Amino acid sequence: MLFDPISLRGLTVRNRVWLPPMCQYALDRPDGVPTDWHLVHYGARAAQGFGLMIIEATAVLPEGRITQADLGLWNDQQTAGFEPLVDFSHRQKTAVAVQLAHAGRKGSTWPDRPDAPSGLQSVADGGFTVVGPSAEAFPGLAVPHALTLAEVQQIPLAFAAAAKRADQAKIDVVELHAAHGYLLHQFLSPLSNHRTDAYGGDFAGRSRLLREVVTAVRQVWPEQKPLFVRLSATDWVEGGWTLAQTVELSQGLKELGVDLIDVSTGGNVPASIPVGPGYQVRFAAEVKRQVGLPVSAVGLITDANQAEQILRSGQADVVMIGRAGLRDPGWPEMAAAVLGAPTPLAPAYLRAALPRG
Ligand SMILES: Cc1cc2nc3c(=O)[nH]c(=O)nc-3n(C[C@H](O)[C@H](O)[C@H](O)COP(=O)(O)O)c2cc1C
Repeated sequence: MLFDPISLRGLTVRNRVWLPPMCQYALDRPDGVPTDWHLVHYGARAAQGFGLMIIEATAVLPEGRITQADLGLWNDQQTAGFEPLVDFSHRQKTAVAVQLAHAGRKGSTWPDRPDAPSGLQSVADGGFTVVGPSAEAFPGLAVPHALTLAEVQQIPLAFAAAAKRADQAKIDVVELHAAHGYLLHQFLSPLSNHRTDAYGGDFAGRSRLLREVVTAVRQVWPEQKPLFVRLSATDWVEGGWTLAQTVELSQGLKELGVDLIDVSTGGNVPASIPVGPGYQVRFAAEVKRQVGLPVSAVGLITDANQAEQILRSGQADVVMIGRAGLRDPGWPEMAAAVLGAPTPLAPAYLRAALPRG
């Protein structure tokens, strides 16, 4: 099943081995424009058979960046910068998604590099002011400016403008980043949202911003193109966001025109997470079972038979291969050989195909 195509709206993806969004922090200048690193990194994975790649968290506004080495989609130069890698990937028959993101209170950190400082890049050190639902910091990071009602209402417009740019760059899918403790997740979780206006309080209030973002994006994102949402299915902390709320939210998102839920967990508050092979699959399975939307499973899926079993058991519709796909761009060909499927390699690599059965 791993190499069966899947269709969502007007898009048919050639297989179900997908690359999840993974920040590369690979900019030379803080301009948010993809570089030759992005072309080589994503291009290699397209040529070696990933069916769909989700380009890393891409900020919809400058103050929505995690770091100043993040990609952005708020100006024309950035839009044009995506085109070569989208075009190259399409020529390899690989679909391209972009993860549209706003970091909220987790913004203005140093890029994750061994030769650089880590943690908060303060305003004094050239960082920027971060925003959030409430003036409460993520441990170790800056206290955010609590967005005013008028400022919150600008957020859906920023996501919609970035989605329009993604369409101009011929990107096939938009994924909204509502996981891992970034802005949309900060609004969802009672641990980070202490607002008393229409965007806080009960479940309806805390989920209002994400629902408005989805509505605004769906209005400008072409009808035939799929829209995904990445959610953290649990905060892994008592009193936090839960699987039951994830299911209820996903039901609402389905009605608003979301086509797939990309099910991850955690990231909003420090927590002890029982990490192990396929540790998040059961959350994806539960969303799929209760909501009836296609789901992707991610998190320590590293083995071809494990991935195939996740699909065969009906727990997910696609699998995402993250760190294993960073280590080994040839993961799809390895898996296809193990499972006896035709090679997904580009023509130039056919003589390198592994023996079958
Ligand atoms: C280097 C790196 C960067 C990441 N950046 C993002 C990101 O931009 N957006 C996101 O939603 N998740 C991000 N993640 C999480 C991955 O998408 C994935 O969910 C996680 O690595 C678990 O999958 P794996 O065990 O297959 O690596 C990142 C992970 C890594 C290792």
